[in-house]
Amino acid sequence: MASPRMSVPRFRAGKGKRRLVCLTAYDVLTARMLDEAGVDLLLVGDSLGNVVLGYDTTLPVTLDDVISHARAVMRACPRALVVADMPFLTYHITPEETLRNAGRLIKEAGVDGVKLEGGESRVPHIRALIEAEIPVMGHLGLTPQSVLEFGGYRIQGRTPGDVDRLVADARALVKAGCFALVLEGMPAAVAARITEAAAVPTVGIGAGVSCDGQILVTPDLLGMTERIPKFVRPYADARAITIDAVRRYADDVREGRFPGPEETYDA
Ligand code: KIV
Repeated sequence: MASPRMSVPRFRAGKGKRRLVCLTAYDVLTARMLDEAGVDLLLVGDSLGNVVLGYDTTLPVTLDDVISHARAVMRACPRALVVADMPFLTYHITPEETLRNAGRLIKEAGVDGVKLEGGESRVPHIRALIEAEIPVMGHLGLTPQSVLEFGGYRIQGRTPGDVDRLVADARALVKAGCFALVLEGMPAAVAARITEAAAVPTVGIGAGVSCDGQILVTPDLLGMTERIPKFVRPYADARAITIDAVRRYADDVREGRFPGPEETYDA
């Protein structure tokens, strides 16, 4: 019998029992392949701004962008849990507006939960979502939407004060009701401390092996992006494979070798 769809309670219950496998997805084809490979959680990340839409940062990504890509991912009918990112400025104003925006991701895209970046200052917004029974994943550390405040993409948790703040933020997010926390761009020892302190799974990206699970941006994992971050292990060279395939196709078209006699409706 096929295994049931992943749910938020099952994902949360994975803490301490098994390592959770998470990846980003933005389209139906990729979502089907990742699901077939047995990924536990697909994140429709606002990294789509960088890897799909070609922006330098995630800041220009809109709620409509995420809804459109999340709907494509949901059309794959994945067994994995699907979480969608709340874009910059969709959860920063009032808890009411945050709820309205997260509600669109649930009602219009059909995802299982939402993710938002930031610590203690987000607690009222997170509470509004939890009260409406919308599952929330937190995101701490090198939060890409903070690029202007950080003055670039800088590793967080380098000073004792920063570490204490990250641990306090993690406790506040768990207390507010987050079902999991993404820990991005921080020393492995800091992620290990948060993982030990948190009652919910931590999912690391550039945060060492002690987290309860790992997530990567899928085009980085597949070697499709031009600049692959240091913490990524590319498991394929899809960029080289694609360029080579397209060059061979182009040569065949130019030399009249494609289509061949079998590759028509006449055969
Ligand atoms: O947008 C995204 O892809 C993310 C992951 C890097 C965690 O937030």
